[in-house]
Amino acid sequence: MRKTTLITGGAGYIGSHTAVALINAGHNVLVLDNLCNSSRECISRLEQLTLTRVEFIKGDIRDANLLDDIFRRYDIDAVVHFASLKSVAESVRKPLDYYANNVAGTLDLCQAMARNNVFQLVFSSSATVYGEPTRIPIAEDVGTGKPVNPYGRTKLMIEELLTDLCHSDPRWSIGLLRYFNPIGAHESGMIGEDPRGRPNNLLPCLMQVAIGRMPELTVYGNDYPTADGTCVRDYIHVVDLAIGHLKALQVLQHNSGINFWNLGTGTGYSVLQIIQSFEDITGITIPYRFAPRREGDIAQCWADPGKAGRELNWTAQRDLHQMIVDAWRWQSCNPQGYQASFEISALIAVK
Ligand code: NAD
Ligand code: WQD
Repeated sequence: MRKTTLITGGAGYIGSHTAVALINAGHNVLVLDNLCNSSRECISRLEQLTLTRVEFIKGDIRDANLLDDIFRRYDIDAVVHFASLKSVAESVRKPLDYYANNVAGTLDLCQAMARNNVFQLVFSSSATVYGEPTRIPIAEDVGTGKPVNPYGRTKLMIEELLTDLCHSDPRWSIGLLRYFNPIGAHESGMIGEDPRGRPNNLLPCLMQVAIGRMPELTVYGNDYPTADGTCVRDYIHVVDLAIGHLKALQVLQHNSGINFWNLGTGTGYSVLQIIQSFEDITGITIPYRFAPRREGDIAQCWADPGKAGRELNWTAQRDLHQMIVDAWRWQSCNPQGYQASFEISALIAVK
């Protein structure tokens, strides 16, 4: 039986792009997702895109019997773990859901892995674990800070849980990937970010304005100590991020213990720069208005991605232009996300 990589949350935004990267690199993948924030249509798109049958199981990482059954039926040698709730605002309203799904869910997954002798894990962490940065660019050796919301705290708790696990048993080999701000979509326009309900993140909100579903973009804060007064972030193309997972899996095969890697580009852009780039590339004007600062936002952060460069032989290849072109292609071809079929006729010219 061929070795299989289990991708939890593989029908979601980053998981689906990682599935493509792994399949294209010759991995056999199995996607486990309860579809609480995604759609089965994404799996069909993955199959069209990779010309491969993609094994998919609809189920929850907290279902111990299901996990044991999966580990028995498939020859799994590694797990890439994306399954998580991810809305900062919702985590403030429903902290129990976040701790149960993210922290307890990861615990259940690791217990099932241990029961079934699978010890390689790549985990989706976040730059949110750094809290308010004490040094920019942020390198891994700065240490973790104090995340300012329950979602961020689940990520930090899981990092600590996984670190303890590695210290307890040398068979574990775990990579914690600290993503900065993923945006963009696969260049085919067939898969991309499909947020349910009202989005919170900058690019999905900007897209909603561009396609006329929201009248204007709210820009939170123009009095930050940055060049133009708006917040600065390290936006990273989701395909570069996906390739980072492939590289991490390759390194973990020959490495035991806990490993931390930032996945960012090392370059920051302000909110106004993102709006301007989008307008320049698409020719579409984005009406926006300034509003007070959003609670919990830090003024600026970008990664020092040097450690991932040295240890994973990974650097981000795609620039902001590419991120916006690809995000817009996805949005234009799929105005209803995965709810409608792919509209190839909607492919629009971007400069
Ligand atoms: P997403 O919501 O698109 O994907 C997560 C997937 O997990 C969804 O398909 C959802 O249905 C599934 N899922 C959730 N709980 C589950 C459970 N209990 N059992 C099975 N499936 C479950 O989110 P994403 O943007 O692709 O994020 C992937 C991972 O990366 C998450 O862990 C997220 O916290 C982390 N992350 C995301 C960002 C970002 O800005 N998108 C930044 C840093 C870290
Ligand atoms: C970026 C900038 C906003 C929306 C969040 C999570 C983080 C990680 C990635 C998962 C900020 C501004 C936004 C809008 C705006 N997720 N903005 N108007 O806050 O850096 O990170 O997503 O791990 O944990 O906190 O990303 O895209 O929400 O915001 O002005 O309508 O855009 O104030 O400065 P953020 P974001």
